[in-house]
Amino acid sequence: MKENMSIGDIFSYDKKFQSIIRNMLQTTLDISFDGVMITEAGPGYPIIYVNPSLCAMTGYDFDELLGKSPAMLQGERTDQRVLDDLKEKIEAGETFHGKTKNYRKDGTEFIMEWKIVPVHDADDNISHYLAVQLEIKDYTIEFTSVDTKLPFEP
Ligand SMILES: Cc1cc2nc3c(=O)[nH]c(=O)nc-3n(C[C@H](O)[C@H](O)[C@H](O)COP(=O)(O)O)c2cc1C
Repeated sequence: MKENMSIGDIFSYDKKFQSIIRNMLQTTLDISFDGVMITEAGPGYPIIYVNPSLCAMTGYDFDELLGKSPAMLQGERTDQRVLDDLKEKIEAGETFHGKTKNYRKDGTEFIMEWKIVPVHDADDNISHYLAVQLEIKDYTIEFTSVDTKLPFEP
């Protein structure tokens, strides 16, 4: 087996192995400590998938997030400059890494750190975006919004 095997290599294996890997990927998403969100690449970035950790972090059920824009997590103290940076990066096909203030279903504020990567289709167009997200609870961390280096108050 070659070094640095990719998911693409794994899926070129036989059908039985493909279904095992599919189950493993599903389980990984189900038990992950990080939230995972997948959106369409179109306007408003409609959500097509969230994992249980993302639901636990935000307080929303899967059905409440499906088809909605991740913008529903934003509020008064969400930094627009971080969002502008995010949009510029991901639409240029780059990875975004940032932190911002977000809001749960019950209105409570939390600091969310996330990475967003573009996902390409067979024609190499960006079809979806995938994000891994976690709540920052350790207030001793460096308070910048990572890529943008914008400081913010906890
Ligand atoms: C995959 C993905 C995940 C996102 N997750 C969040 C999030 O958790 N919190 C947030 O404030 N914005 C998030 N965003 C950014 C918002 O979707 C974006 O700011 C909002 O849709 C406004 O976009 P617009 O400027 O095109 O209207 C995410 C975007 C993508 C593509």
